[in-house]
Amino acid sequence: DYQVPHVFVVGGASGDLAKKKIYPTLWGLYKDQLIPKQTFFVGYARSKFSILELREKVEPFFKVGPNENEVLEEFWKMNSYVAGSYDKGPDFQTLDSHIRGLSCKAHRIIYLALPPTVYQSITKNIHDYCMAPKECWTRIIVEKPFGHDSQSSAELSKHLSGLFVENQLYRIDHYLGKEMVQNLVIQRFGNRMFAPLWNRDNIASVVISFKEPFGTFGRGGYFDTFGIIRDVMQNHLLQMLSLIAMEKPVSLNAEDIRNEKVKVLKCIKPIEITEVVLGQYMGDPNGPNEDSRTGYLDDPGVSKDSVTPTFATAVLFVKNERWDGVPFILRCGKALNERKAEVRVQLKDVSGDIFTRGQLARNELVIRVQPDEAVYMKIMGKKPGNSFDCEETELDLTYASRYAGVKLPDAYERLILDVFLGSQIHFVRSDELAEAWRIFTPLLHKIDKERIKPVKYTFGSRGPKESDDLLKKYNFTYTGTYKWKNEAKI
Ligand code: BG6
Repeated sequence: DYQVPHVFVVGGASGDLAKKKIYPTLWGLYKDQLIPKQTFFVGYARSKFSILELREKVEPFFKVGPNENEVLEEFWKMNSYVAGSYDKGPDFQTLDSHIRGLSCKAHRIIYLALPPTVYQSITKNIHDYCMAPKECWTRIIVEKPFGHDSQSSAELSKHLSGLFVENQLYRIDHYLGKEMVQNLVIQRFGNRMFAPLWNRDNIASVVISFKEPFGTFGRGGYFDTFGIIRDVMQNHLLQMLSLIAMEKPVSLNAEDIRNEKVKVLKCIKPIEITEVVLGQYMGDPNGPNEDSRTGYLDDPGVSKDSVTPTFATAVLFVKNERWDGVPFILRCGKALNERKAEVRVQLKDVSGDIFTRGQLARNELVIRVQPDEAVYMKIMGKKPGNSFDCEETELDLTYASRYAGVKLPDAYERLILDVFLGSQIHFVRSDELAEAWRIFTPLLHKIDKERIKPVKYTFGSRGPKESDDLLKKYNFTYTGTYKWKNEAKI
């Protein structure tokens, strides 16, 4: 199919996502010759732009090597731009004739980097006026938010399924494009070693964390209507959970994998407020820069009495034979002390401990998604030397040393490439999405309706102490004795 011309439409070409992610990704795929040479890129948005103006806006975000100027010019020759509304049929007829002018027999990929308010009208217009000819395919890439609760999401899904079939729809959750998230399936099902441990008999708890050291500044308006649960937990963290907890799929086929993900989500009951800690950050008056001195409520886009959480910890249970009783703790927050996303599988205590003075710490398998991708196992070993004491140490697969010099593609790069290839493994199916909302909607409604007050925490801290208490209550033991020494190797 790579011989057939392709047209890639960037809907919302003048927006932030297009500028920071989509155009730089398209450039990266083009210069590495990963997509068909005959791929035309068409920007579409309301503002009137020349292609030169678009180039000036987005090119600063490109990574251009010293010998790549010629390829860069070639790339821009494949680009064009059409201005038009998101709701008027004739504008989409113009877009369609523009596309046909580039190639009348081309596969079409349409990326919707647009606010949800225009989704209904733009998808209807695409369906009515911009589909590829019969012998070619059309694929639509959709970005979150996919609604804000079960009902709104179901309405959107119903609307989309009235226009397109599921295999034309690519719902992006960019965490599914990350190296270490994709690695979960291989790690789990490609190793004999983990399989016998992967259950309620051996695992005490699973903690999935997402931490960012910056606040919402500049995005406060969007964020305030969503909050951290809708922004990160209901999608990115839950996706990771389903890959960790699902049963082995029949094959690596996208439908087989997604069937298992749906099955495991179906075993999770809606979250109870008693198993949740909510937080909101305050500025740190002694912070090193203005951002850190600015609290969430100081953001001009945020209402002064907002109770929107910027931090949340929630405990979920997968009620099936494998996981009954094992807490899955999802924890995410903005304006914290570090940037880190990881999965931490903590095993139960060794039974019949023969070592004295409580020397044994629990084994943990840690999958560090970012930064500094790694998989490591915290294990006990003999303290080297004359003594016969135990010491915490690790089996360490740090990517920067084991795969030194290997470039890990950006999540968007992989996912957009998958759309060209027609692979839906790393995209969210509509029933998966419905299950995700089912788990979170009652909690979100309760928070919104009762205006449940989040606990305040300081910018740059570890988040509310109540979160650590919740982890402790749910069988996650933190000793603070372990030091990961791998920094030296990176
Ligand atoms: C986005 C959220 O989906 O993911 C942002 O809307 C968040 O709030 C971002 O910052 C994190 O992505 P990454 O790839 O930087 O971890």
